[in-house]
Amino acid sequence: MSITIKTESEIEKMRVAGKLAAEVLEMIAPHVVSGITTDELDNICHDYIVNVQGTIPAPLNYRGFPKSICTSINQTVCHGIPSNKKLKSGDIINVDITVIKDGYHGDTSKMFCVGEVSPHAKRLVNITQEAMYLGIKQIKQGATLGDIGHAIQKFAESNRYSVVREFCGHGIGKNFHEDPHVLHYGKQGEGEALEAGMIITVEPMINLGKRHIKVLGDGWTAVTKDHSLSAQWEHTVLVTENGYEILTLRQEESTLP
Ligand code: MF3
Ligand code: CO
Ligand code: CO
Repeated sequence: MSITIKTESEIEKMRVAGKLAAEVLEMIAPHVVSGITTDELDNICHDYIVNVQGTIPAPLNYRGFPKSICTSINQTVCHGIPSNKKLKSGDIINVDITVIKDGYHGDTSKMFCVGEVSPHAKRLVNITQEAMYLGIKQIKQGATLGDIGHAIQKFAESNRYSVVREFCGHGIGKNFHEDPHVLHYGKQGEGEALEAGMIITVEPMINLGKRHIKVLGDGWTAVTKDHSLSAQWEHTVLVTENGYEILTLRQEESTLP
């Protein structure tokens, strides 16, 4: 497979899919509170995606994934499976939404803090979001994938955090996961050069402790080996001649540079 350049009509469909994915995160926000189970979050999202938006939840049955969203709590790095576990005050949780509209995918995730969260957890959440934005800010025609990874790694490690290596961002379009692999670590100027019309995700997973992970027996849930906290944020981003366009921007992000 090689990196596809989207046509103007495909880009318009990706804008629609991206906005719809962002709207699911906005819809679910008030529900992410102490006492709710991640199964309940999954059900609310599934119902909204299917019956309100008329979109398809991409994770459901994707390579055998059993639910419509991913919910990754505390030391879970990514791909947490919704269950009957209740959220409690102090938890940090990533909710990852991917919808398909008109054959095109929008993929985005954010962290939520449940009730009163410790300052060190809050700091990890905020620094991880900033790392994602710093990676995204590298994007423009002619920049390389290594520029994105380098910006994220440098910032995360300068804050004494570590970058997960086993999972990465990806091209996205008609397929959930397309070329290229978008690593969240690397060297400036290395890797594939970006071209206007490419669409990729940037979705760094940053650990408070060491970078190593393990996947649980369910075949999906990735957790930190040292049980330290992990955070992740994700956007779907279009490469343009002079920069980028975030396709999954939420209203709360309208104050960004
Ligand atoms: N949404 C994840 C990503 O950002 C992928 C989840 S795969 C699933 O790439 F099967 F767990 F849904
Ligand atoms: Co993704
Ligand atoms: Co995702």
